[in-house]
Amino acid sequence: MVPFIRQRNISLSYRLLAGVLLGSSVLTFFITLFSLWLDYQQGVRRIEGKLSQIETLYLPGITQSLWDLNDDHVDLNLNGIINLGDIPYAYIETQGVIQYSSGTMPGENQKSIRFPVIYKRDKTRYDLGTLVAVASLDGVVDRLINQALFVFASSFVKTLILSAFMLILFHQVVTRHLLKISSYLKKNHFLRPSKSSRLVLDKKSAYGDELDQVVQAINQMHQEINQHFSYREKAEQELRRLNSSLEEEVKRRIKENERQQINMQNAARLSSLGEMAGSIAHEINNPLTIISGYVSMLRRGLKTKSLPEPQMEYIGERVESTIERITTIIQGLLRLSRDTQKEKLKVQAVNPIVKDALAICREKFSSRGIDIRMTIADEALLAPCKPVEIGQVVINLLNNAYDEVIKHTSPWVEVCLKAHEDKVILTVTDSGLGIPEHLRPKLLEPFFTTKPLGKGTGLGLSISRAIAEDHQGRLYLDEQWPNTRFVLELPSKEHADANPTPTPEPARWHQIH
Ligand SMILES: Nc1ncnc2c1ncn2[C@@H]1O[C@H](COP(=O)(O)OP(=O)(O)OP(=O)(O)O)[C@@H](O)[C@H]1O
Ligand SMILES: [Mg+2]
Repeated sequence: MVPFIRQRNISLSYRLLAGVLLGSSVLTFFITLFSLWLDYQQGVRRIEGKLSQIETLYLPGITQSLWDLNDDHVDLNLNGIINLGDIPYAYIETQGVIQYSSGTMPGENQKSIRFPVIYKRDKTRYDLGTLVAVASLDGVVDRLINQALFVFASSFVKTLILSAFMLILFHQVVTRHLLKISSYLKKNHFLRPSKSSRLVLDKKSAYGDELDQVVQAINQMHQEINQHFSYREKAEQELRRLNSSLEEEVKRRIKENERQQINMQNAARLSSLGEMAGSIAHEINNPLTIISGYVSMLRRGLKTKSLPEPQMEYIGERVESTIERITTIIQGLLRLSRDTQKEKLKVQAVNPIVKDALAICREKFSSRGIDIRMTIADEALLAPCKPVEIGQVVINLLNNAYDEVIKHTSPWVEVCLKAHEDKVILTVTDSGLGIPEHLRPKLLEPFFTTKPLGKGTGLGLSISRAIAEDHQGRLYLDEQWPNTRFVLELPSKEHADANPTPTPEPARWHQIH
């Protein structure tokens, strides 16, 4: 904002008055000077005219009087000359000596004229002397001074009256309106909306003069500003409304997104389990066949009463252990299909989680002749984790290894679980050819897959990585390893604040060969 500049408040009217006074004084001064100069010239010319009259009016008489030696006539003529006015002194000199004179010699401000007095007789010229008339310019100058004083005084009074009149007129016509405009503008802050009325001047606006135009412009500006403010207010309201609905929308979308992510993760988990479905069915089917075989043996034996007691006991044990095997698989499945979103990390043994996952996969691998090896440390390796999610990572890694190794001869997959420094380390290594270098940076990206459409979603590794990070751990491809090896690192129990919770019952059946 331009700062309000404080100035001495000298009214426009007074400045105008001063201007008029000054201008008029200067003008009057020069005009008067010029007219005085003209008057002076005229006065001088008039005196010169009088002087020149002497030659025609008085010189012949004086010449004759001198010739006749008539002194009275000479004096009479000289008196006549000084009575012409402005010529206070006249004399006749002969060879530098004044013979006759009349009047008194004026001051320095004088002008004189000389006429030779020549008497002509019978073609002879007689030089009788010189007639000198001395004119005084003092009268002219005095008159001029008086005239100047009068002109100055009268024009000063005239200017003063005119100025006062102008002052009143200017105040009536301009200044008071300007003051009203200024107070109106001060009252109406144009940076804020205002409801104040239109600016109307106390004058007839029929002339449509400059002031009317200013008033019109201000009113128009005021109206436009008010309009602009009302537009802005409406726009701001609309913006606020949009903002709040946008916030709502964003919240809704975020919630929806979270829900979709959860659904996706669940779907991916169930899909990885689904991949196992065939082999799980087979896995359950086998022991069921065994059970049904033993049961029919038992019935036959009971019918024929030919079954000795130790054999019956053996059959009973086998049936029991086979049922236990089915129970383990189903429990593992149940655990892995559970929704884990609301679960919290709990310190527990990782070994049984890995074993559960392996149990689910075992049949799938062995049915395709894949040698699945397992090196799991004997002591329980504790880590804060969600078992379902860790199981899901193991299954994802095993599924990927399976997809790769079935393409090659003598396939094998090795799962290793050990403690290293402050970490629990799980590695899944396979006999595949490894992952081409150009694919490695994209491996963990969502939806990256090299599998045919409908076979892979490309979410397995990215979800596994997210799970690892949720556990404050990490998942990576061990690029130094000659085969394909994925590593899952979890912080071990020492790094967790929570107390270990009871470990879920470890799977008793875990020989995977
Ligand atoms: N053990 C492995 N050997 C070779 N390539 C692998 C291995 N594991 C993963 N990959 C490569 O990484 C890609 C991404 O794996 P990811 O598990 O994320 O998705 P996917 O297996 O293709 O699909 P989904 O897991 O949803 O079935 C795979 O398509 C594959 O090209
Ligand atoms: Mg996969």
